[in-house]
Amino acid sequence: MVKICCIGAGYVGGPTMAVIALNCPSIEVVVVDISVTRISAWNSDQLPIYEPGLNEVVKQCKGRNLFFSTDVEKHVSEADIIFVSVNTPTKTRGLGAGKAADLTYWESAARMIADVSKSNKIVVEKSTVPVKTAEAIERILTHNSKGIKYQILSNPEFLAEGTAIQDLFKPDRVLIGGRETPDGLKAIQALKDVYAHWVPEDRIITTNLWSAELSKLAANAFLAQRISSVNAMSALCEATGADVSQVSHAVGKDSRIGPKFLDASVGFGGSCFQKDILNLVYICECNGLAEVANYWKQVIKVNDYQKNRFVNRVVSSMFNTVSGKKIGIMGFAFKKDTGDTRETPAIDVCKGLLGDKARLSIYDPQVTADQIQRDLTMNKFDWDHPIHLQPMSPTGVKQVSIAWDAYEASKDAHALCILTEWDEFKTLDYRRIFDNMQKPAFVFDGRNVVNVEMLRDIGFIVYSIGKPLDPWLKNMPAVA
Ligand code: NAD
Ligand code: UGA
Repeated sequence: MVKICCIGAGYVGGPTMAVIALNCPSIEVVVVDISVTRISAWNSDQLPIYEPGLNEVVKQCKGRNLFFSTDVEKHVSEADIIFVSVNTPTKTRGLGAGKAADLTYWESAARMIADVSKSNKIVVEKSTVPVKTAEAIERILTHNSKGIKYQILSNPEFLAEGTAIQDLFKPDRVLIGGRETPDGLKAIQALKDVYAHWVPEDRIITTNLWSAELSKLAANAFLAQRISSVNAMSALCEATGADVSQVSHAVGKDSRIGPKFLDASVGFGGSCFQKDILNLVYICECNGLAEVANYWKQVIKVNDYQKNRFVNRVVSSMFNTVSGKKIGIMGFAFKKDTGDTRETPAIDVCKGLLGDKARLSIYDPQVTADQIQRDLTMNKFDWDHPIHLQPMSPTGVKQVSIAWDAYEASKDAHALCILTEWDEFKTLDYRRIFDNMQKPAFVFDGRNVVNVEMLRDIGFIVYSIGKPLDPWLKNMPAVA
């Protein structure tokens, strides 16, 4: 029986391995992690991450050919194929701080593999890593090899949270990069055989190692660039009376551009877009490509601009101050159908409003009160370290309360800010919400989920990203 071990039981390791186990009953899959709480959660009925469809997949194979364990060394030493799916955060200090990828966790995983291995291994980079990382990993492994042969493959993951299970079942492509040597090609074939259990062969692409590593960074950069492009247009729409949804629709009809990923928003979030672009920028700078680095840097700058612009819209519309005013925050996760808050735009928007002394009542159907308090007090990039290494949550932010539902969050509020596109925000009883709010009552829709005309008829003053402005907002400054 082929044995797979995956180091890192997070958003990628857990779902990816569950789908492999389900589709390959003849393969034993063990997911290991240094976080005891995470592994205990995987072994319980309350999984550590919320992802539609994940429970059902895990239930079918846990205990059959899918196992979760903290006994990292044992399972690594027994495995034929080792996936490494650990955090690759942005460095917070030293050379490349604020940009370069911190490979501490990757390196320690590689050293441990070298220490405990007694047989030949295929080591698969599942984490997103800088191009050329495989070379460094190869060095660590071969310098400590004791005659054991290692083949390194790059097999980046393209799943998106909230749709991870469907993305894994029907991937647009599976990308495998490896050495173009006889042993390298054999290793590529072994990994191909795993995916071939359920992925059509024409969707499994093989490349050299560096192309695979770089393609992952490039794909995230291209995706994020689309959002910054449409968000930049949203500012121009507001200035001119154009409607960004109509512009996106018209632009997306061009088959060369396509309709997906053109929704204007308060800004993109998530654990990877910013981190991976910063990493790309750093790699370009290290290769002397200043113009290329600046080009990609602009994608992040526009994203920051969009979040600032949103905060400025809120404050300037409300008589230039939100001090002491209650604002209901609808949604805190970085997108719907996930409880993940890593780099969510809600953090920057809430911090911006708190900076102007607002009182916030935050509601999200999937994010815990503790997580929200941690996010609002944590330093930049600290979130992307294993949970047990993150700073403990201090006392929390006093001006922030957590609400059980949207109605509680909006009671007596002066304004609502919709920051995540949860479906339930489309169908709230906005008449009831309006009746219970202070007047004038504002809605700032950062996700374009509400029916603007209907809300204006009720009496709300509505701001919706990239849409023709409410008469109230005209002539109010929107730019920082
Ligand atoms: P995560 O933080 O959810 O999970 C990583 C896990 O690795 C943590 O549980 C941590 O405790 C564990 N870990 C760290 N060092 C370890 C070690 N030495 N031994 C054992 N366990 C260790 O991160 P994630 O979201 O799953 O992302 C992992 C990688 O995948 C990152 O490189 C990320 O860029 C990439 N990625 C993420 C997504 C996504 O949607 N989250 C999608 C594609 C790629
Ligand atoms: C993204 C990519 O889509 C995945 O392919 C990739 O594997 C992953 O990053 C990764 O490497 O981590 P994810 O961040 O989970 O996936 O979610 P997305 O659906 O890409 O959304 C990212 C952010 O962009 C969210 O805040 C979302 O609300 C925002 N977004 C997305 C928009 O503002 N507009 C859009 O049209 C689409």
